[in-house]
Amino acid sequence: MLIAVPPVIFLGYYFNAGFVGFFSHFVYPFHLFLSRVLLFSLAPTAITCFTRGLDLRKGIEDVLCPADCPLWQFYVFGDGVYASLSSICGAAIHRGVITSAGGAVRVQALPGQENYPAVNANGIQSQVLTRWASSFSVTGRWITLFCKRPKKPLDKKAGNKDCKADIAFLIDGSYNIGQRRFNLQKNFVGKVAVMLGIGTEGPHVGVVQASEHPKIEFYLKNFTAAKEVLFAIKELGFRGGNSNTGKALKHTAQKFFSLENGARKGIPKIIVVFLDGWPSDDLEEAGIVAREFGVNVFIVSVAKPTTEELGMVQDIGFVDKAVCRNNGFFSYQMPTWFGTTKYVKPLVQKLCSHEQMFCSKTCYNSVNIAFLIDGSSSVGDNNFRLVLEFVSNVAKAFEISDIGSKIAAVQFTYDQRTEFSFTDYNTKEEVLSAIRNIRYMSGGTATGDAITFTTRNVFGPVKDGANKNFLFVLTDGQSYDDVRGPAAAAQKAGITVFSVGVAWAPLDDLKDMASEPRESHTFFTREFTGLEQLVPDIIRGICKDFLDSKQ
Ligand SMILES: *[C@@H]1O[C@H](CO)[C@@H](O)[C@H](O)[C@H]1NC(C)=O
Repeated sequence: MLIAVPPVIFLGYYFNAGFVGFFSHFVYPFHLFLSRVLLFSLAPTAITCFTRGLDLRKGIEDVLCPADCPLWQFYVFGDGVYASLSSICGAAIHRGVITSAGGAVRVQALPGQENYPAVNANGIQSQVLTRWASSFSVTGRWITLFCKRPKKPLDKKAGNKDCKADIAFLIDGSYNIGQRRFNLQKNFVGKVAVMLGIGTEGPHVGVVQASEHPKIEFYLKNFTAAKEVLFAIKELGFRGGNSNTGKALKHTAQKFFSLENGARKGIPKIIVVFLDGWPSDDLEEAGIVAREFGVNVFIVSVAKPTTEELGMVQDIGFVDKAVCRNNGFFSYQMPTWFGTTKYVKPLVQKLCSHEQMFCSKTCYNSVNIAFLIDGSSSVGDNNFRLVLEFVSNVAKAFEISDIGSKIAAVQFTYDQRTEFSFTDYNTKEEVLSAIRNIRYMSGGTATGDAITFTTRNVFGPVKDGANKNFLFVLTDGQSYDDVRGPAAAAQKAGITVFSVGVAWAPLDDLKDMASEPRESHTFFTREFTGLEQLVPDIIRGICKDFLDSKQ
């Protein structure tokens, strides 16, 4: 770099400095100019979705963000000036410097600030932070121009591969809409379905009709060609009745997306609710159920209630309660069913914004859970079986797959043995069978060492992944070594620690190991037979932490 500065670098400089820089560079102090040039690196460094500002060393650095970073995973603090613990790529998307297609970003280190504001921009909600030691800013790089991916031609049968989604259209079949507008609705839904680019590798759609009782008209697997779907929509008959949208939404979230009915693993689940006027029933519970099932709910509402009608609407905030996230993205207004053609494309664009589907991630499909199992002599054979049963019962609640949740187990005495790691098994059956096959070690108790071992060897390889990490320390007694230091280190590494004690496990140790708030992360039972009763609270605890971390 020092010896031969290729011309592209100067070009980069001009782009950055703009016209003023271009025309005034003769008067620009040469040493400053050189120092700016020298700070550039020719090729941007490839970073991951999760690389943070503080991971970079230089004052100014050009980096390359990968495509398709999961937006809901980003931690971003501030707006314009970002705290250095923010994700660089997250900040760059937030700032509008790049899109989710990735690209080159210039990162400039800045001093710390007193306050970092929270701002929602470009699909990312940044968070508030007070007083942080260092910051950074992001700007665009001209190289981005050359990194655009060429457009692929559309393969009809495969469909639009860039729009992977499993979509249920929940159409309004109530007396509110009536036969005539029902037909206009069918027309609109048909146009949306065609524009989506339905195909074997693209979006799949099904239809549910909401009226008095919900009716699943066809499932995702019934048709994988746009023509067939269009035909099936044309054939739909109007059912009539009250507009029990809440009931229909709940039914669809629970019943529509099973694997047998054609839902695909790892693909966002979407319900698009079409609503003429307002629902006769409540949407709040249905909205909660949909979120638990990882469904992204959109509400397309047509014909808002008039001022005279407002008194008849039982809950005026029904849209906010039903949608996946109340950030404006998931609701869509159309004034009438007439002349809706111009509303087709914007809706399709929303449904195809893979990275905006925040609600696809749930506490069931996006966690890594490691169990650290006490195999000391005091436990005994029979109780050890009960511990394994407890581990199985917790593991059973999660959706284990290569792209979903993962389970690992380590047994410890003075020694540690990785029974299986996060990457060993990709199905629930395999994990449950591996738990059954754990052989009791018997020996002393060194819980601290075991935590350190697990943090390093079991969580080490997955710590930069998308899942949230949990460690369960199961013990029946006093540890011979210090547990506080190792537990604090595990928490610092981003692992939420739950302690589960039985019999002689000292409550102080359990509390000291557990993550904050300690009370809700500490469990205790006098008898091993009491472990089973803890399972529901533990699963709820994981889900609570997961949802809190997404706020
Ligand atoms: C959809 O598929 C299911 C199961 O294969 C079948 O029972 C049902 O009749 C199909 N529906 C339509 C509308 O073709």
